[in-house]
Amino acid sequence: MIPRKRIDIGPADLASGMLACLLPGDAAKPCAAIESVWDEQANLACLSVRSGFDALLAVLALPPGSEILISAVNIADMPRIIEAHGLVPVPVDLDMTTLAVSPAALECARSPRTRAVLVAHLFGSRMPVQGISEFCNKNKYLLIEDCAQGYTGDAWRGEPLADVRLFSFGPVKPATALGGAVLGFRDAALRDRVREHMAHWPLQSRSVYFLRLLKYALLAPFGNQYVFGALAWLCRLFGGTHEPLVSSAARGFAGGAFFKKIRRRPPAPLMRLLLKRLRQGEQTSAVRRIERARQLQGLLGARCVGAGALAHRHWIFPVVHERRKALIDHLAQHGFDAAISA
Ligand SMILES: Cc1ncc(COP(=O)(O)O)c(C=O)c1O
Repeated sequence: MIPRKRIDIGPADLASGMLACLLPGDAAKPCAAIESVWDEQANLACLSVRSGFDALLAVLALPPGSEILISAVNIADMPRIIEAHGLVPVPVDLDMTTLAVSPAALECARSPRTRAVLVAHLFGSRMPVQGISEFCNKNKYLLIEDCAQGYTGDAWRGEPLADVRLFSFGPVKPATALGGAVLGFRDAALRDRVREHMAHWPLQSRSVYFLRLLKYALLAPFGNQYVFGALAWLCRLFGGTHEPLVSSAARGFAGGAFFKKIRRRPPAPLMRLLLKRLRQGEQTSAVRRIERARQLQGLLGARCVGAGALAHRHWIFPVVHERRKALIDHLAQHGFDAAISA
């Protein structure tokens, strides 16, 4: 069975990451190097997008009850972080064909308490930001562009029009370093204030990162279709399904103490590996994936979420279907692993 999730990192990078955990050295040098790899903007390397977003909101110190317009599809932790700062996330619908948020929808959702807009490019697609930026400029809102699902190793660095851009390199992301994020700022002074805020956070320990690398090294064989097929078969044999195993395997910051876990500075080995991944650029596997997704999209047409997106790198391939469970079973019978999103 072909697994739906293949962690995009090879044994050489995993091994060099583990080795770096055993060597001395602080994160300052690799962080500075990461921040200059994308030299057209003021960058900041962080532990995760959630860490950087949390620090940004702390620095902005918006009045309690201020509203942030947020595109309605995002991971649950982003509105959770907004709420933790005493702010209100206001969901804004997106067009499921283009995966874009329209300035008209933002206009309907805004109120006198609105202060910022957070739009996410989803599943590897990219939405036009020009109109959203004009809307933000007109109303003096901060525009935060969530590119966590957007990086695939190509030259795209988000929209220069956005005030802050968030790129993630967490475990399920293309070109992953099994953690880490790069935030791009239009205003270098704001970047410096966020950096200063994070400087007071404790360092994430090397051992936490080492164990994460080890976990994914042990999981790597399950990226093979035969090994994964055997796992799925074994789970069925015992009357269960492989689904909970797969979805829990890639969860970052799981368990309790969420804010304690995200409010950490990244350890040096993570920053070294992230720098390496950024320098590797686009892999041929990404190009192949995009080609195949386009072929499939041509066959399935409107059933594909994001079929009309401005550009699409197909990090995930979501489809709409009336009988979701039947579709999953049908795909499984033909050797494809797929999952239902809530
Ligand atoms: C749209 C979106 N925003 C934010 C995040 C958080 O990224 P990180 O894992 O780097 O905190 C994710 C992670 O999957 C995401 O998909």
